[in-house]
Amino acid sequence: MSADSPKQTNTTDFGRHTIASAQEMRERARQHLERGAVTEEYQADRSQVVRILNEVLATELVCMLRYKSHYYRASGINSEAVKPEFLQHAQEAQQHADMVAARIVQLNGAPDFNPTGLTSRSRSEYKEQATLTEMIREDLVAERIAVEFYTEIIHWLGDADLTTRKVMQDILAVEAQHAEDMKELLGELTKAADRVR
Ligand SMILES: [Fe+2]
Repeated sequence: MSADSPKQTNTTDFGRHTIASAQEMRERARQHLERGAVTEEYQADRSQVVRILNEVLATELVCMLRYKSHYYRASGINSEAVKPEFLQHAQEAQQHADMVAARIVQLNGAPDFNPTGLTSRSRSEYKEQATLTEMIREDLVAERIAVEFYTEIIHWLGDADLTTRKVMQDILAVEAQHAEDMKELLGELTKAADRVR
């Protein structure tokens, strides 16, 4: 056997998973090159995953726009502490949108950036708020929607699409932190309001 010839791997079947031999894997990888990152091991319904990821993309874009709007519109004595938080969340929502769009492309789908219908594709809403407290409350609602939506996606994907699941888990961890940040800010603002009464 030359150094380059495929080694036969005999793996134990732990439950329902085995590892294919090197030869099998090499042959399969040469078929359907047009599918790129989508291989035989891909077990999810690709078009459904792309459709849901486009809803995630819309949710993140709407989130980014809401935080940007809050960053530029926030004013008043309490706004200086809150503005950097709004800006950071806007930037992270943009990063999430980029991660999701890149994954859609890997799945041979088309990321939907069309502004028409953006708010109906998004799970969270875009509403105008008049006060800082209302802004933060609305952001907290949106973060809680994101946490629930992304958790459901992760459970739904299970083992069928590990890469998308990893992308969603990474995003979910940041969304959970965003929700916590907004909850704390809301608590601080409420305390500050209590003190002046
Ligand atoms: Fe967020």
